[in-house]
Amino acid sequence: MKQKIFIKTFGCQMNEYDSNRIYDSVKKIGYEKTENYDDANCYLLNTCHIRDKAKEKVYHEIGRVKKIFRSKKKPLVIIAGCVAQAENQEMLKREPYIDLVIGPQAYHKINDIILNHTYKKKAEETEFDAISKFEYFNKIKNNSGKISSFLTIQEGCDKFCHFCVVPYTRGPEYSRPFKQILDEAKYLADSGTQEIILLGQNVNAYNNEKYRLSDLILEIEKYSDIKRIRYTTSHPKDMSHDLVEVYKHSKKLMPLVHLPVQSGSNKILDLMNRKHTINEYYKIYDQLKEINSNIQFSSDFIIGYPGEEEEDFNSTIKLIQKIKFINSYSFIFSPRPGTVAADLKLNDKKISMERLEKIQSQLYDNQMHMNKSLEDKTINVLVENLTDDKTQVFGRSEYMTSVIFNGKKEDIGKIVAVKINKSNRSTLFGERDFSSNQKVA
Ligand code: SAM
Ligand code: SF4
Ligand code: F3S
Repeated sequence: MKQKIFIKTFGCQMNEYDSNRIYDSVKKIGYEKTENYDDANCYLLNTCHIRDKAKEKVYHEIGRVKKIFRSKKKPLVIIAGCVAQAENQEMLKREPYIDLVIGPQAYHKINDIILNHTYKKKAEETEFDAISKFEYFNKIKNNSGKISSFLTIQEGCDKFCHFCVVPYTRGPEYSRPFKQILDEAKYLADSGTQEIILLGQNVNAYNNEKYRLSDLILEIEKYSDIKRIRYTTSHPKDMSHDLVEVYKHSKKLMPLVHLPVQSGSNKILDLMNRKHTINEYYKIYDQLKEINSNIQFSSDFIIGYPGEEEEDFNSTIKLIQKIKFINSYSFIFSPRPGTVAADLKLNDKKISMERLEKIQSQLYDNQMHMNKSLEDKTINVLVENLTDDKTQVFGRSEYMTSVIFNGKKEDIGKIVAVKINKSNRSTLFGERDFSSNQKVA
């Protein structure tokens, strides 16, 4: 009988990529993917440590699994991802229901630790070994099978922003070999992928021998089956000249730049150890807008960082009004154990909440405005799948916005011209525009 594995994924796209690669790996030892966790023999939780309560979320989830399996055979319980890396042995001690703990740079060992596991012997693997991980995954095909696929090109971070756990949970920056990435991109293209999203905690710090992110973009776009290329997440400091210039030459790079800024105040950026100023950020914005005025920006913001005063917050609002970010993320600062900012005096919670609401309302307005501006226009949509009720199709605009329209199954994997007739903050609705095969907006 086939063994079944269920993976629940929290956190960023890199965790999603990893979860899919874990599925690809355990298939080799007889596991098949299941979407129902009550019929799984193996339950894997791929965790995120970025904000508070991350640990508690994991234990809460284990509690749920315990209940579900109370009257059934216990599944093999594996904790993977960034909480696993940060907590390692502690998790095995605190929750005996957990069998194995494995960190993000040790997934090349996943098959062996599952095969060698006995319920009497708990195991923990949290070594940083990104080279072996990617050499291993390189031998196992990426069976994403999706129209839009993630492809991790870089892992880890050397920047040590004072608020962030990533350098501790993902380890030092590592860039995969250029050829290894191209092979994976080619395989994805040959198996139906139309859009590749290049991933890294600092994707634009990609640096392998003489190759940079710009080289990868230009090389991948030579694959005729690939229609769109995106990359995330970038750091302003690594927005190099060649990467800016690639927007002049690339035909497939999408015009949405996700460039986290965190705050509009130089004082706060300095306290956060972000290593760039707001003027430098504006400079990148101006350069890209000059190359293509249709380029839009999205960002991440941290509100209520220790030391943030009204004046600093107003600078963030000003920045948002100027740049008109779309699809952005904003959170209140959450102290993370082991980081420089962990023990700083926290700001007044009520004030931070008020600021968060203000900023989110501004960001939502930008998004609404952007979506409204597309009504009555025809845009290009890459169709990804049928809607749940199967009466329409779902796709994405060049700016990653969800689009629902009256397409057919045959449209999946194609770029289709859609006339937008309605919108809300997160979704555009429209009809296929048969009069246009051309990009209009
Ligand atoms: N490397 C990216 C960069 O330089 O901005 C960010 C990667 S991080 C995984 C994603 C986002 O989580 C950050 O941009 C930040 O806004 C948010 N974040 C990280 N640590 C946080 C913390 N301690 N509290 C609140 N938000 C946090
Ligand atoms: Fe975290 Fe800063 Fe590294 Fe981004 S650049 S992953 S925010 S430490
Ligand atoms: Fe979370 Fe780790 Fe990603 S902490 S955001 S899963 S790198």
